[in-house]
Amino acid sequence: MCGIVAATAQRDVAPLLIAGLKALEYRGYDSAGLAVLDEGTLRRVRAKGKVREMEARYDADPAPGGTGIAHTRWATHGAPSEHNAHPHVAGSVCLVHNGIIENYAPLREQLKARGRVFTSDTDSEVMAHLIDERIGQGMDLREAVIATVRELEGAYAIAVISDKHPDRVVGARRGCPLLVGVGIGEHLLGSDAQALIQVTNRMMYLEEDDVVEITRSSAQVYTLDGKPVEREVHDSELTSDAVERGEYRHYMQKEIFEQPRAVTETLEGRLGVHGVLPNIFGLGAEEMLSKTRQVHIVACGTSYHAGLVAKYWIEQLARIPVSVEVASEYRYREAVVPPDSLFVAISQSGETADTLAALRETKRRGYLGTLGICNVPESSLVREADLKLMTRAGPEIGVASTKAFTTQLAGLALLALELGRQRGLDEATYLKRCQELYTLPRFIEQALTLEPQIIELAAQFVSRQHALFLGRGEHYPVALEGSLKLKEISYIHAEAYPAGELKHGPLALVDENMPVIAVAPNGPLLEKLKSNLQEVRARGGTLVVFADHAAVMDENFEQDTTLRLDSGGDFISPAVFTIPLQLLAYHVAVLRGTDVDQPRNLAKSVTVE
Ligand code: G6P
Repeated sequence: MCGIVAATAQRDVAPLLIAGLKALEYRGYDSAGLAVLDEGTLRRVRAKGKVREMEARYDADPAPGGTGIAHTRWATHGAPSEHNAHPHVAGSVCLVHNGIIENYAPLREQLKARGRVFTSDTDSEVMAHLIDERIGQGMDLREAVIATVRELEGAYAIAVISDKHPDRVVGARRGCPLLVGVGIGEHLLGSDAQALIQVTNRMMYLEEDDVVEITRSSAQVYTLDGKPVEREVHDSELTSDAVERGEYRHYMQKEIFEQPRAVTETLEGRLGVHGVLPNIFGLGAEEMLSKTRQVHIVACGTSYHAGLVAKYWIEQLARIPVSVEVASEYRYREAVVPPDSLFVAISQSGETADTLAALRETKRRGYLGTLGICNVPESSLVREADLKLMTRAGPEIGVASTKAFTTQLAGLALLALELGRQRGLDEATYLKRCQELYTLPRFIEQALTLEPQIIELAAQFVSRQHALFLGRGEHYPVALEGSLKLKEISYIHAEAYPAGELKHGPLALVDENMPVIAVAPNGPLLEKLKSNLQEVRARGGTLVVFADHAAVMDENFEQDTTLRLDSGGDFISPAVFTIPLQLLAYHVAVLRGTDVDQPRNLAKSVTVE
């Protein structure tokens, strides 16, 4: 999604802005631009496509200057093109924007009626005009920004400069993240800590409706009433080398292989020899979880799939009902909230607009409390949830989520065990499950050794148009996640079904052109799954079966492609079976030559509705 970097410094800021934009590339975007003020003269460079295309234009005609703003745009209003790329200029004002201005259409009409000429199709440009009008009426830049954002409906993070005030940048946020980087003799703004970490680890997180004015020597936050307020400066734990790709060809491959360590770190200090350690979900968790009688899990994308696995786990171990829903549906539905319900929001980024809106909705819906399971410590979700569990996966750069998913599963397994313990799960089962969870990193490590076989298998998929994934029980969400990975990065149409539903529709699609990928752990549902797979074979479908070593498959199945792995036990098996599906999607995409880390049209962090 869109990214913002801005800076005011004693040195030339363009290199800082370009480095910041490169650090934000992982978020997904389709054009880039920057603008620099040099002693009151504004220079702007924009290009459709990658930051390096914009950088090449900049290098051909560099613009020195100590104050500037920059942006990567993920198109919402208006096609990806140079004229729609940010920054937008109106008179003396130059602006970058993340988010969506919902009332832009009437504002645009009013501005046109007042003689304003628009040069883009974006919703963002109205803000530049409104601010410029106010500066023309005698307001200074900050006053003009405050007066303008008060008129807006929707979500925004903005950074604004003006040739009338060449030594400062004004930023504002509502619904989209924005933070200040505090350097030595310089200040920056960024939509994400990764944009700033190469310059400073001292960060100030802005709150809803904050407006900030930065100069080289100061960063002052204001409310929408224009009153100064203080915001704390934190030392971010992010390091710039945590986002290096190292020896791997893509971030996604690196992140797949980081999973044993990421899961180990997520469990560290939380799971001991005698079970889940106390207070791992934060202050007051013991009391809240002991009162919990229902759980509502809300998330988007891959995080939603993690929630679906957790439903099986929590219902089995804690015997309390769990519902799981995508956030964009939940937030607009009149959900019935039974007494003593716990709301769980799962999000890698902690900034997904729908998930945050759902979390905010809980305030009026009468929940017992909220728990955020998240990977980004400074995110809005972590700041707003009552209880939290950080997944400690480290920065995830590949748009297709991998290590965030398995670490979410590790966190949710801890939650299921803790709820189970409080609701009378027998000691022997509890300890067995805890021990299984403890071994998860080792089984993930083993599953990764399948890579050479999966590379061979991937060749069979390169020219396919469709694929069907099947699973049962808690492996149905694993099939969903496998199909999502394949479609996201290889652009092959993929669907997942609970295998028992095969006869109710998808079987009509099965012929020799339809590969069917089945997740077949050895468990109570294996025999039923085998019958479903017979139905596929009988129709000439190509079967690829991921089975564990213990699963006894019929002779017939050995004619299909069967890859064996050790699931490590019923409980952790969904996390382990995820690994070969991630590898399959990755290698198919590599063979198809797609942009694996930044697949077309997708964004890492979806900060608009
Ligand atoms: C986007 C990303 C997905 C991610 C989803 C939810 O669609 O491309 O990888 O699963 O958002 O993001 P979140 O940060 O809330 O987990």
